[in-house]
Amino acid sequence: MTHGSVGSRIERVLLSEEAIRVRVAELVELIKADLGELDPVIVALLKGSIVFLADLIRGFDRPLAFDFVGVSSYGDGTSPGEEIALTKELSVDIAGRHVLVVDDILDTGRTLRHVLRYLEVFRPASVRTCVLLDKRARRDVAVEPDYTGFEIGDEFVVGYGMDFADHYRNLPYIGVLAQGR
Ligand code: IMP
Ligand code: MG
Repeated sequence: MTHGSVGSRIERVLLSEEAIRVRVAELVELIKADLGELDPVIVALLKGSIVFLADLIRGFDRPLAFDFVGVSSYGDGTSPGEEIALTKELSVDIAGRHVLVVDDILDTGRTLRHVLRYLEVFRPASVRTCVLLDKRARRDVAVEPDYTGFEIGDEFVVGYGMDFADHYRNLPYIGVLAQGR
């Protein structure tokens, strides 16, 4: 599989389109069962979560709002930076609302912890978290997602919204980036 001039950097497919589709549908059912009659506000983290978000929200049949917060920690590299910067603030009112935070991948946990602290200030009624991928072995702050798509190993992955230096987000599957990047 090639992907422009950077195609040779995909070492192998980790999660196929079909595997993702099946798991996202399962996540939707779990979340719906927990929400019951509550209408959620989904807060998705830019930019990596947008493909996941697009698939997730189409499984819901109740009223639902979503918004984005922008968070940046990686820059163009593949190891976490020390600083987490908020690059886009929330623009819907989540006070008294039931929030579901959606992110692509939980790694050290710093990004999600930062966002959860930021959201608390707005006094939501509840906050749950949903990540497509969890690299548990790399966690260094205590954050436990309420919903996890897949646990994966300590490998750098791209596709289905996730990038390396802003490439590969449009891949329909999730691939492992070759070493020597
Ligand atoms: P954390 O703050 O270390 O948990 O990092 C979480 C963020 O890092 C995610 O929202 C991703 O944007 C990014 N990230 C972590 N691992 C990967 C990866 O393997 N591929 C692409 N992005 C990643
Ligand atoms: Mg991200």
